[in-house]
Amino acid sequence: MSQLSILFKYFNYFVSAKTKHDIHSPFVFQLLTKAIKQKTSATAFTEIEALRNSLLKNKSMITIEDFGAGSRTNNGNSRQICEIAKNQAKSPKYAQLLYRLVEYFQPENVLELGTSLGISTAYMAKAAPNAKITTIEGSESIASMAVENFKSLNIQNISIIKGNFDVQLPLMLENSDPLDFVFFDGNHRKTPTLSYFKSCLKHKNNNSVFVFDDIHWSAEMEEAWEIIKQSPEVSVSVDLFFIGLVFFRKESTKEHFIIRF
Ligand SMILES: C[S@@+](CC[C@H](N)C(=O)[O-])C[C@H]1O[C@@H](n2cnc3c(N)ncnc32)[C@H](O)[C@@H]1O
Repeated sequence: MSQLSILFKYFNYFVSAKTKHDIHSPFVFQLLTKAIKQKTSATAFTEIEALRNSLLKNKSMITIEDFGAGSRTNNGNSRQICEIAKNQAKSPKYAQLLYRLVEYFQPENVLELGTSLGISTAYMAKAAPNAKITTIEGSESIASMAVENFKSLNIQNISIIKGNFDVQLPLMLENSDPLDFVFFDGNHRKTPTLSYFKSCLKHKNNNSVFVFDDIHWSAEMEEAWEIIKQSPEVSVSVDLFFIGLVFFRKESTKEHFIIRF
């Protein structure tokens, strides 16, 4: 999908998306007012953004393995750290949204597919210091940098698994507690996304939250998002354009929300 068609889609989303005044579901209204639209600021934001700024200035080159879809900018296998920080890490707006979601739901067991340098992981870990955060990253050198970043932020509740999701996810799930919160942020293609979703679905509970990045990034991702929303297990979905949330609450009637963020 070209940048122009994404811009066009975003414009359509922005003019047609609902605001809190149009939401009648108490669950979604609370989510919107207490988490999504909250203007909280935390010490963690300053610490993690300082780390991001130092990564954005880091011109060192590392050799990476290219995994799946996820970058429109460079397909070589040598990258500057600053490029990775610029192109892969969630922006402060979305990383801080993840923080607020994790803070609001207080999950015990969090899984992230796609660590990169660990910016989004750090936000989630700081939002729930007692939670167990597991994150999977296929590129060995990037994962090693993420480990250093977690140390520099003094974060102790993250376990990083290095390896391909296709191999590591089933292994990790074999011994996993129920997944309370999952952030899908790697290999943005239809078939792998649906496959990771199906694997995680077996480990959801009634209150699990699954967050998908880049749901309108490509035609394939839009197809995957439609299939995910329509899955019988999903009751509520929330489309914030760059990120989509799904919920499995049996007490909620099936409804799909497109909300301005
Ligand atoms: C968009 S980045 C993650 C950004 C990170 N969540 C953040 O916001 O700070 C996606 C990462 O997923 C990794 N990845 C993509 N496909 C993968 C796969 N099949 N197995 C393992 N890692 C993969 C890439 O190496 C990349 O580092």
